Amino acid sequence: MKISVKVPATTANLGPGFDCLGLALPIYNTITIEETVLPGTGIEINVLSDDSIKDDLIMEHIPMDENSIIYKAVELLYNSIGQTPSELKITVQSQIPVARGLGSSASVIVGGLIAANELLGHPADEVALLSIATEVEGHPDNITPAIVGGLVLTSLEDDGRVIYKKLDWPDEWNITVCIPDYELPTDISRSVLPKNVPLEDAIFNAKRMGMFVQAVNTKDAELMKLALQDKLHQPYRMKLVPGLENIIDNLKHEENVLGCVLSGAGPAIIIISQKNDLEKIKNIVKNTWEEMNVKVNIMTLPVEKQGAQIINHE
Ligand code: HSE
Repeated sequence: MKISVKVPATTANLGPGFDCLGLALPIYNTITIEETVLPGTGIEINVLSDDSIKDDLIMEHIPMDENSIIYKAVELLYNSIGQTPSELKITVQSQIPVARGLGSSASVIVGGLIAANELLGHPADEVALLSIATEVEGHPDNITPAIVGGLVLTSLEDDGRVIYKKLDWPDEWNITVCIPDYELPTDISRSVLPKNVPLEDAIFNAKRMGMFVQAVNTKDAELMKLALQDKLHQPYRMKLVPGLENIIDNLKHEENVLGCVLSGAGPAIIIISQKNDLEKIKNIVKNTWEEMNVKVNIMTLPVEKQGAQIINHE
């Protein structure tokens, strides 16, 4: 049997929602799991990068052996029904750039899990898949939209369950994704975060999260401008993302920009805007980063409303 699953990229945090807000984007990895016929061949994992992305780093950052995050996810699923995976060929066709804050690891975890679940005759339901995938990734904010699509508010509960609620992204708000040509692994980006934060910063983010949900639900652009701020992770990560502070500063007076936030753990950034100032906004980002010798790939994308899909079953 051979199963292929197409999984969207995701952006997480969206400013105030550290580890609990995420949104799917129409860039995809396709993960194929094939049962190999020859016994004793073990697990083989291959990663093929899409030439259009020209990201040599993709090959380096998804480990090919059984320690791979895909293997871990697949193994947890097999173990949950008392089995061990063997004789599998796993292939990742990758369009999502690695170590940029766009959910490439979540996509391969989710793709591997859903393909293995199909191979095994669906032992896991959505609740179990969310929980296993989040166990491997560590936080649910990329995993959840990768599985269910759209914009989600998601929470990893103390018992390991993941609960989520979908929100409707206002179609009139543009999402511009700016991907610099340097990488920032998530573990490094998380290592600079403090164990404890000042109470006033926690209160600041609690207020912004409330505003975010209300702004999205009522399409309130002025409220969204207040909501897209953060004191829990972005201030600590600024030093790892040269240019971010200048870009936020240079966009500050653009009336149609609702906010500029780090995408997940960075270094990609997301700009939320309304109306048609896109070229101007893109030029501000491009020029600011180019002055620092950083090349950037900029795309304005809609929200991907669908999560992971099985696209081939033979
Ligand atoms: N919420 C996570 C973080 C997303 O900011 O570290 C990155 O995977």
